Amino acid sequence: MSAGPGSWLSHVDLAGFTSFGVSARARFFASLQQEDELPTLLQEADDKDLPVLILGGGSNVLLTADFPGLVIQMALTGIVVRPDPLSAEHFLVTAAAGENWHALVEFCLRNQLVGLENLALIPGSTGAAPVQNIGAYGVELSDVLVSVRYFDRRTQQVHQITAEQCELSYRDSIFKHSLKHHAIILSVCLRLSKGAAPVINYPALQQALLHSRRSATQPTSQPTSQPTPQQVFDAVCAIRRSKLPDPQVLGNAGSFFRNPQVTLAHCERLQREWTDLPSYKTDSELTRKLPAAWLIEKAGWKGYRTGDAGVHAQQALVLVNYGEATGVQLVDLARKVAASVQQRFDITLEPEVNILPASVWHA
Ligand code: EPU
Repeated sequence: MSAGPGSWLSHVDLAGFTSFGVSARARFFASLQQEDELPTLLQEADDKDLPVLILGGGSNVLLTADFPGLVIQMALTGIVVRPDPLSAEHFLVTAAAGENWHALVEFCLRNQLVGLENLALIPGSTGAAPVQNIGAYGVELSDVLVSVRYFDRRTQQVHQITAEQCELSYRDSIFKHSLKHHAIILSVCLRLSKGAAPVINYPALQQALLHSRRSATQPTSQPTSQPTPQQVFDAVCAIRRSKLPDPQVLGNAGSFFRNPQVTLAHCERLQREWTDLPSYKTDSELTRKLPAAWLIEKAGWKGYRTGDAGVHAQQALVLVNYGEATGVQLVDLARKVAASVQQRFDITLEPEVNILPASVWHA
């Protein structure tokens, strides 16, 4: 690593900046500590005709080649809580894009702000949360998001849009479409409650809560009582730790593919043959969502390993880097997995992870 122009570093290995831990170099690298430094950084990159990549926690990206431009590591921090002027029970939490997501969840829990506990242990930064509308165990960011502030590279100005304008849907948002390449998220504002009951409708979460209450000895742990946000947080952490590999130990980016949506007729056809195939409701009665993990497992990939690239043994939707796998090797494996699911179930799996450059997936 050596110093480049201004405060930039050059030829920086990004292995430690992404959760997959694959080696790829940034031609230039800068860390953004202050919002007002952003326009100058971007101007300098434009002057040199360099593409720009914003890295948050690096937990949803797979680099398959060196990045030929400027990587900006989002390091803006700060959390502000204020009462919601529209509701006595609610508080507005504004968190800077570089805040670690799980640390924000813990901060809210400590301050009796209910609503994020189901989203515990999701790796990555707060600024990345709206991009893919992070979701887990029955809660999505869209349930609590109020607004997003971002710097627009076209107007060179800071804009604020409402959650509705973010066009959030399952693992999707405006930041993956019309604002892709233009918006750099600076902060998000969430609306949380002081007294609300946590959401416990996800079956695996209910089971984990039941299990922890049965094994608990405290007199307060009656099976019929409503679990506290802390208990939900603990249960979510326990489920995630039992199924999902810790990126500090085993490189990964969580779910590699989105859960696919198929027509109801397609789903019923598959369920006649595979009676144990779970399916979930969607916004439309004509479609169903299927667990990609189930399809991948049934196609025989769970626990598969080739070199240092593998399919996790506890969760078939997670691809893992056992050490020295390259981005290209992981993409090759992902393409083989997707091809066999296509062949077996006539379903196209789409990556949920941001593969860079994107053309590698379709090559
Ligand atoms: N399943 C299998 N084999 C496996 C794992 C799961 O057949 O190896 C089946 C399970 O039996 C279950 C179903 O698949 O019926 C769903 O499994 P799970 O509850 O683990 O959730 P998922 O659909 O695989 C999604 C999210 C996760 C999130 C969990 C919990 C996507 C792409 N992934 O996974 O998000 O934590 O639900 O809400 O929607 C992430 O995005 O990185 C992520 C981890």
